[in-house]
Amino acid sequence: MKFFIDTADMALLTKCADTGLVDGVTTNPTLIRQSGRNIHEVIGEICALVDGPISAEVAAMDFEGMKSEGLALSKIHPNVTVKLPMTWDGLKACRFFSDKGIKTNVTLCFSVNQAVLAAKAGATFVSPFIGRLDDQVSDGMDLIHDIVEAYVAIDAQTNILGASVRTPLHVKQCAMAGIQAITIPPALFLKLIEHPLTKAGLDTFAADWASTGQKIA
Ligand code: E4P
Repeated sequence: MKFFIDTADMALLTKCADTGLVDGVTTNPTLIRQSGRNIHEVIGEICALVDGPISAEVAAMDFEGMKSEGLALSKIHPNVTVKLPMTWDGLKACRFFSDKGIKTNVTLCFSVNQAVLAAKAGATFVSPFIGRLDDQVSDGMDLIHDIVEAYVAIDAQTNILGASVRTPLHVKQCAMAGIQAITIPPALFLKLIEHPLTKAGLDTFAADWASTGQKIA
C-alpha cells in the first residue's frame, strides 16, 4: 500500500518525507488556504521534495474552467495529478486529462456508483472519504470494501486512494482491504510507528547493552 501525505505544510511534509517512506502527496483547497501560500508555489515545492503523484485540486466547477486550471497545474511538474470533483463536469474533465496521459484523482467519492463512474472516466485514482462517512454515523470502511469488490468485478484499472483517513485503525483496515494507497495527515503518519511494547523493549535492550561495556563498531 502506498502512503500519500495529505498536507500543504512544507515543514510537516519534510518531516514525513525524511523517513523515505512517502510515495505521494494530496492537497485540497482547504489545505492550500491553511498553508497561506500560492498554489503554484507550494505545489512546485512539494514536487521538488517528493517523487510521486502530487494531487493539486481545481477550483472551477465547470468543464472549461477545470480544463484550463488543470492544464495550468499540470504544467508545474510532470508528477502533478489533477484532482477533480465528483461531478459530471469533473468526470468529463477526468476523461479529457486521462486521454492526454495526465494523471487524475477524482475526489469526494461517497458511493460505489461514483467510484464506478470515476473508473469509466479513466481516473488514475478515486478518493473515497472514510472519516467523513464515519462522521455521518455511516461506516466509511464499508464503502472501501464495496468499492474493492466492485472494482474486481468490473476489472477497473483505477487505483483506490483511501482518503479522510483519521485513525491508526483506518490505516490498518485499509491495508487489510488491500487498497492501492491511502492519504493521511502528517501527524497520523508519524504516529503509525508507535507501540508501547516497542519502546519498552528498546529501553531494556539499551540498558542491557550498556551494561556489557561492548562496542560493535
Ligand atoms: C483527500 O484528498 C482529502 O484532502 C482529505 O483526505 C480530506 O480529509 P478530511 O475529511 O479529514 O478533511
